[in-house]
Formats: sequence, structure tokens, C-alpha cells
Amino acid sequence: MTDSRIPTVRLGGGGPEVGVQGLGCMGMSFAYGPTDTDASRATLERALELGVTLYDTADTYGAGENERFLSPFFKAHRDEVVVATKFALSIPPDDPTRRIIRNDAPYIRAAVEASLTRLDLDVIDLYYMHRRDVNVPIEETVGVMADLVREGKVKHLGLSEVTGAELRAARTVHPIAAVQSEWSLFSRDIEAGVVPAARELGVALVPYSPLGRGFLTGSFANADQDLTDDDFRRQQPRFTGDNAAANAALLTPVRTIAEARGATLGQIALAWVQQRAQVHGLPVIPIPGTRKPARVAENTEATGIVLTEDELSTLEPIADKVAGDRYADMTPTSAGRE
Ligand SMILES: NC(=O)c1ccc[n+]([C@@H]2O[C@H](COP(=O)([O-])OP(=O)(O)OC[C@H]3O[C@@H](n4cnc5c(N)ncnc54)[C@H](OP(=O)(O)O)[C@@H]3O)[C@@H](O)[C@H]2O)c1
Repeated sequence: MTDSRIPTVRLGGGGPEVGVQGLGCMGMSFAYGPTDTDASRATLERALELGVTLYDTADTYGAGENERFLSPFFKAHRDEVVVATKFALSIPPDDPTRRIIRNDAPYIRAAVEASLTRLDLDVIDLYYMHRRDVNVPIEETVGVMADLVREGKVKHLGLSEVTGAELRAARTVHPIAAVQSEWSLFSRDIEAGVVPAARELGVALVPYSPLGRGFLTGSFANADQDLTDDDFRRQQPRFTGDNAAANAALLTPVRTIAEARGATLGQIALAWVQQRAQVHGLPVIPIPGTRKPARVAENTEATGIVLTEDELSTLEPIADKVAGDRYADMTPTSAGRE
């Protein structure tokens, strides 16, 4: 077992130093089928041993269950972990395919209190707006978030799935530590607007789903055939039907590079995301999600892989060939507004 700790990097906007790879905790309670809580707890502890300090959750993951599950771990390691959670999104229990988005002051004020209660913490280290409600000016939303900082409920602010223009408007109100958006070999739409804005404004990028929700590891090839009925990936167009078959074929160059290096597909996918930091000149802290201690070790090892120019060129054309959108409804994403 390796115990070499991963390097650190500073979040933007005066934010804290964190391990250069974080841990996505969503799957421990939500979205990706059955979970084993003992294995999830062991994964959290293993991640911390390896130098992972940024832990990602949201109030909507399992309707609060994910925050409650993580609370004992966060409390046991309060000074070592950076706790990131989010508000804005809720899923009606009677219609799990629907999303309700709210960015108004009364909603945010109730959401932060509910998250603090579930987490059983005095302060949230990084508080994200999860999705943009276009009925509320972003300056107003970030104004309320800034009040939470002044009141000591939140330390740093983040935004998820915003456009470059929205990030610029938000930054006029308060420093932003991080933008969290999907970024992977399969999902590169943020490179046009959000990434240049983040670089200019000194904001870190936190790529979510850097393993393409597991598809880039080769662990499933078709959501309908390989995953349980309640798995969220069955709702995502790129993982089902003809799209899935076409997209699985795109992994061939990833596999070739992995085999030549004695690495896994997932490690090559993560190394590519991590290397966006050098390519685009900004801090990048991917948050791969896993519930298995061995996988967190495998994933953190990818921080030591530097892909060559030839390898990067081989991987470059993949994203443009991906069949099917990231979500069935792209309207609430930054790509839907850009
Ligand atoms: N802001 C947003 O809108 C948003 C949206 C989605 C996700 N997120 C956040 O981003 C985090 C990461 O994204 P994600 O979980 O959607 O996708 P991801 O990190 O791309 O992939 C997670 C999937 O990959 C599997 N996996 C992880 N490491 C693996 C390995 N080494 N080998 C094989 N399979 C592996 C996991 O299975 P096991 O768990 O079984 O290992 C899981 O099914 C989430 O946990 C969440 O915190 C944010």
C-alpha cells in the first residue's frame, strides 16, 4: 500500500490549500445504485491518508442523506478536511427525473441552515450555487452568499455550471474560490468561455465527473444493460443505446496509452484532466467519485502521471466525437445558456 501523499494547490479567491485531487462523495448515497456504507467510510479515511482534503457533497444528494452520512467523518477530521456543499437544486420525491432550481435569498438562507444542521458543523468551507436560476440576477444570489461569509456561516464561495459571463458578473460582488463544472476527455464545452474567465479572475476549476461518471474507466459500456434500474446514468443520453456503443469505441486510444504505460484507463483520463492546469494556466482540482478504498488509491496515483505531447495529441479529438448530450435536459447547464 502506498502512502505517498498527493501534491497540494491553492483554490482561487483567497481560498485554502487542498490536495490536487478531491473526492466526490455523491455516489456514497445517491445516483449510482446500491452502496456499501462500510466501504464508503473506509474510502473517506483512505483518501485522507493519501492527501485528499477537498470533499464534495450537496444538499440534494439523497435529499440530505449524503451530508448526514459524511458528518461523522468531517467532525472527526475537522482541521484536515475542506468541506464543500451546494444549494439550489431539489428533486421532487414523486418525480425523480425533474429538477427544481432556486437561487433566491429566502431559499438560500433556509438551505444553508439545513446543511449546517445535517453536517453538524459551525461553518461550511466552500459553499457552491449548484445550478443557476435565471429568474434571479447572479449578483443578487452572490450578494446573499457573501452575506453568509460575513455572518461566519460559510468561508469561501463557489459556482457550478455557470457561464463565463455569469462568473464575471459574480466576481464583481465577491471573490469566487472555485467553479465546479463537468470536465473530462468526453466533456470539454467549458473550455470556450468558463475556463478563460476563471483563469483571468484567479478562480480555480473543480472538474466534476472527470471519469465520465465511470464510463471512461471501461467499468460499464451501456447503462441500460450494465446498471441497475435506479441508476441516474440510465437517464443520460450518451450512455444508452447506439450512443453508448459509439462512445465505447472512442476509448480505444485511451486503452492503448494505458497499456503502454502499465496504467488503467481511469488513470489516463484523470491525468488528462489534471494536466488542464498546465494547458490552461489555472488551478485544477478534479473530484473523481468512488466508494472503494482501492480505487481512491488508484485515482490519486494518477496525479503522478504526466502525459506526453504525442499522447495529448492522440486524446485531443475524442470529445468532439462523443455522441449524445451530458444530460437529457441541457437547459440548466452553462452550455445551455452560452
Ligand atoms: N456540480 C454538479 O452538478 C455535479 C454533477 C455530478 C457530480 N458532481 C460531483 O462530482 C463528483 C464526481 O463525479 P461523478 O461521481 O459523477 O463521476 P466520476 O467521478 O467521473 O465517476 C464516478 C464513477 O466512476 C467509478 N470509479 C471511480 N474510480 C474508479 C476506478 N478507479 N475504476 C473504475 N471505476 C471507478 C465510480 O464507481 P465506485 O463509486 O463504485 O467506485 C463511479 O461509478 C460527484 O461525486 C459529485 O460530488 C457534481
